[in-house]
Amino acid sequence: MKIGFFDSGLGGLTVLKEAIENEKLSENIYYLADTKNTPYGVKDEKFVKNVIYDNIDYLIKIGCNPIVIACNTATSLCINDLRNKYKKIIFIGTEPAVKVAADSKMNKKILVLATSITVKREKLLSLIDKLNIKDSVELVAADKLVSFAENIDCNNMNNQINDYIESILSRFNISEFSHIVLGCTHFPLFKDNFYDVINKINPNLDIQVIDGAKGISNNLINYINKIKGNKKYVQCTKNITIILTNRNEDFIARTKQILKNDKIEFEYKLQ
Ligand code: DGL
Repeated sequence: MKIGFFDSGLGGLTVLKEAIENEKLSENIYYLADTKNTPYGVKDEKFVKNVIYDNIDYLIKIGCNPIVIACNTATSLCINDLRNKYKKIIFIGTEPAVKVAADSKMNKKILVLATSITVKREKLLSLIDKLNIKDSVELVAADKLVSFAENIDCNNMNNQINDYIESILSRFNISEFSHIVLGCTHFPLFKDNFYDVINKINPNLDIQVIDGAKGISNNLINYINKIKGNKKYVQCTKNITIILTNRNEDFIARTKQILKNDKIEFEYKLQ
């Protein structure tokens, strides 16, 4: 089985890492990162949709099924269209984990951070409506975190990253919140930064910073187990191929840092 993963860049690696390390995913993985066009969240929606279709076409041509859309922005823009267009392909999407926060019934507010496209799309707004939590949710676009995550010097930029996070959190009375939902797959790379900033604001605050990686990985594993029936997968050697849409040595280095794995193959899709 070839499993496709798709993101504009590095963010989907946080989902892939969860699937490999905690769910023991052991299938052949093809992860397409649209390194040429990242970031998506601040770009024109029509342009982004077109490049997404082109990239998904590629994953389908090389035989991937299912395909994990490890990108909130792409999911909110076009997962329904993709499902309609490619009826034989199983798409596993990514949604900000607002339901997890709402289900905790802590009766406090929820802060959702995502890209500019995700915070204004109907998909997230209707989820919040459906959960009937409109009055207790604040949505903020935090696109700069995507650029920080893609930066090769990211590990030396903690001060700037923390300042940016603090500039967002300080817009609110943060003690009124029980959860910060990271609604972009790039953002979990900065979970420790979030806790550092919360702790700096007030060490007694009890705020959980959550993301959707576990939920997406579970959906993927359940799907694989379902189609493999009683042969449930056992751990075996897995091959990870990362496909880039431009030549980008920094991206390759960052991928190795994040996955802590040198045995990854890199390929290019240059047109
Ligand atoms: N990682 C993506 C997301 O979850 C995309 C971020 C971007 O390219 O702006 O939304």
